[in-house]
Amino acid sequence: MEQTKVKSKMENNKSSAHILVLGNEKGGTGKSTLAMHLVVGLMDNGKKVAVIDLDARQKSIARYIENRQAYMQREGKALQLPLVSVVKQSQAKVTSQRQEEDQANMQAALDNVNQQVDFIVIDCPGNDTYLSRLAHALADTLVTPLNDSFVDLDLIGEVAATDYQVKQLSYYSEMVWDSRKFRSASGQAPMDWVVVRNRLASLDSRNNKRVHRALEALQKRIMFRYVPGLYERVIYKELFPSGLTILDLPKTNSLSNVAARQELRSLIDNLKLL
Ligand SMILES: Nc1ncnc2c1ncn2[C@@H]1O[C@H](COP(=O)(O)OP(=O)(O)OP(=O)(O)O)[C@@H](O)[C@H]1O
Ligand SMILES: [Mg+2]
Repeated sequence: MEQTKVKSKMENNKSSAHILVLGNEKGGTGKSTLAMHLVVGLMDNGKKVAVIDLDARQKSIARYIENRQAYMQREGKALQLPLVSVVKQSQAKVTSQRQEEDQANMQAALDNVNQQVDFIVIDCPGNDTYLSRLAHALADTLVTPLNDSFVDLDLIGEVAATDYQVKQLSYYSEMVWDSRKFRSASGQAPMDWVVVRNRLASLDSRNNKRVHRALEALQKRIMFRYVPGLYERVIYKELFPSGLTILDLPKTNSLSNVAARQELRSLIDNLKLL
């Protein structure tokens, strides 16, 4: 199986830093937004962090961090910054050569920072690439953001609309499952897979309750933990150009920002990274 090959080739990696991967195979669920907020949340807790951006087309998190640097220069303010690298997909024509190049580039990115940081945060693209598979195979913690809808839920598995019986697992879940099996077979600590609900609407809504029940059914079958993430808030869309996160905003702020900070802190607690 491709996943297994990936892992066995990178077996010597044995990173001393904790590898936190933001991944799924659906665009726009909040991987990069969550990644940036988690990076700043970790740095806020005194941790040294490196970021590896595997989405070399959009480079969302790398650009977010560039915006942060620009903000620091413009405003003359000192903010904490992570180390950043972007790993581009190989363009080699032959698959095996492409995979080897991807692997070597990923390994080099990890080796560059491994001894210097406590956490390596890897932001994956919203589609299935070999680099993304490598990242999944290396994840100590995998965070999969999911928006509050049954369309997004399909990314994990199909659940019957009436009794929430799990009908089948998604291709993505199977891929994560393979990664885990290999991890356990090679004596590594289990990967902690956390499905994070992002862009939450009101908790009382009918849809929310239904998604909750469906996730409970899937959770038992696939063994992930699912935790609430960030609510749908305009502020999360507005912060990107300044490179700031909710944790960088002045403490005396609107009630909504206080609540946003709180939800991010509870997410970090729930991920059990510290
Ligand atoms: N909690 C939230 N509230 C409001 N908007 C959000 C929230 N989380 C993310 N967004 C917005 O949703 C959009 C997609 O987010 P983001 O780019 O983080 O997703 P992604 O999973 O990284 O996407 P891709 O798969 O394309 O890399 C962005 O416009 C972002 O500002
Ligand atoms: Mg992204």
